[in-house]
Amino acid sequence: QELQLNLEEIEKGGYDHFMLKEIYEQPRAIKDTYRGRLLVDQGLIKMSGIDDNLERFMNANRIVIVACGTSWHAGLVAEYIFEDLARIPVEVEYASEFRYRNPVITNNDVVIAISQSGETADTLAAIKLAKENGAFVFGVCNVVGSSIARETHAGAYTHAGPEIGVASTKAFTTQITILTLLALKLAKEKGVINETKYHEILVELENIPKKVEKALEANPLVEIIADVYKDSENCLYLGRGYNFPVALEGALKLKEISYIHAEGYPAAEMKHGPIALIDEQMPVIVIATKKGHYEKVVSNIQEIKTRKGKIIAIVTEGDTQVRELADHVIEVPEVLEGLSPLVTTIPLQLLSYHIAVMRGCNVDQPRNLAKSVTVE
Ligand code: AGP
Repeated sequence: QELQLNLEEIEKGGYDHFMLKEIYEQPRAIKDTYRGRLLVDQGLIKMSGIDDNLERFMNANRIVIVACGTSWHAGLVAEYIFEDLARIPVEVEYASEFRYRNPVITNNDVVIAISQSGETADTLAAIKLAKENGAFVFGVCNVVGSSIARETHAGAYTHAGPEIGVASTKAFTTQITILTLLALKLAKEKGVINETKYHEILVELENIPKKVEKALEANPLVEIIADVYKDSENCLYLGRGYNFPVALEGALKLKEISYIHAEGYPAAEMKHGPIALIDEQMPVIVIATKKGHYEKVVSNIQEIKTRKGKIIAIVTEGDTQVRELADHVIEVPEVLEGLSPLVTTIPLQLLSYHIAVMRGCNVDQPRNLAKSVTVE
C-alpha cells in the first residue's frame, strides 16, 4: 500500500492530482503531437496516414466526424477549421446517435473518429457501420494499438502521453492540434488557401506551446475566482465561432468534476431563452477574445450585465473594453482565431479543477465516471 502510494506520487510529478499535471503537460504534449509533422521551414505538413490516402481525402464530398464527450467537442472545433480553411463540408455526430439513426453513408465519405482511449464502444460501433457502408475511416487516438486505432483504415496518434485523469484535458488540445494539421494539409493540397495565410498558421501553431505556457500563468488568479464561485448551483458558458465548442467543453469539465450543473451555449443564443436564467446567482463564463466576433460578444456581455449576471470573461491580454464590464477577467495571449481554442480552454480547465478541489470532489476519479466508456 505504502509503495503503491509512493509510486502514484512519483507519477503525479509533484502535482496534487493527475488532472493538474496533465493540464500543465499541454505545452509539451502539443509539441510532441506536431513533432515530425509540422515542418515550418519547408512549409510542409507530413502525416503518413494522410499522404498514403490523399486521394480519398481529396475526393471526399464531405467529412463526418464521430466521437463522444470531449472528443466530440474537439470534432466541433475541427468542423470550423475544416470548413474555414479546407472548404470541405463537415458534419459532427455523437457516435451514439450516428450508429443508430440509419445514417446515409457512401464511399465518397471520409469519416474521422476521435477518441483518446481508442476503446469507446459507441465510437467503435460508428466506425464499423461507416466501414460497412464503404466510407474511408481515419482515427485520431492517443492510445497506441487501441481497438479504434486497429479498426480504422488509417490514423494519427496524438502522442499526448497517458491521460490518467478522467476529465480529458491534454487529449482535447492535442486532438485539435492533429485536426488543425490535417485541415491545413488538405487546404494546401486542394489549393484553397493562400501561401501567406498557410505559412502564418504554421508559424502560429509552432508557437502555441509557448502561448499555452503563458495562459497557464493565470492559474493563481483562476484559483481566486474559483473560490468566489465554488458554491454556485448553476453556471453558463458562452462562446462564439471557434470558441462555441470551447464553451461546451468548459461546461463539461465543470459538470464532471465539481458536479455543478453547467451549460455551454453559442453567445448569440442567449436571447432565445437562456437569458431568462440570468440572475445574481448565475456566474456566466464568456469567451471574449479579440478575434472572433468581439463586438458582438461585448454586447452579449452588456445584456447579461443589465440582468445582474456575474461575468467571468476570458479575454485577450491587454483587453480594456471587457474589463470595464466583467466582474472578473482572465487573460490569454493573442492567437489567430482558428487556433484560439488551444489557449482559451486553459483557464476553463483550471477553473473547473480548482472549484472541484475546493468542493472536496475526487478530481481524478469523479463519481459515476469511467476513463473510457467501453460499454454502451
Ligand atoms: C471528458 O472529460 C470525459 N472523460 C469523456 O467525455 C470522454 O471525452 C468521452 O468518454 C470520450 O472518450 P474517448 O475520447 O476516450 O473516446
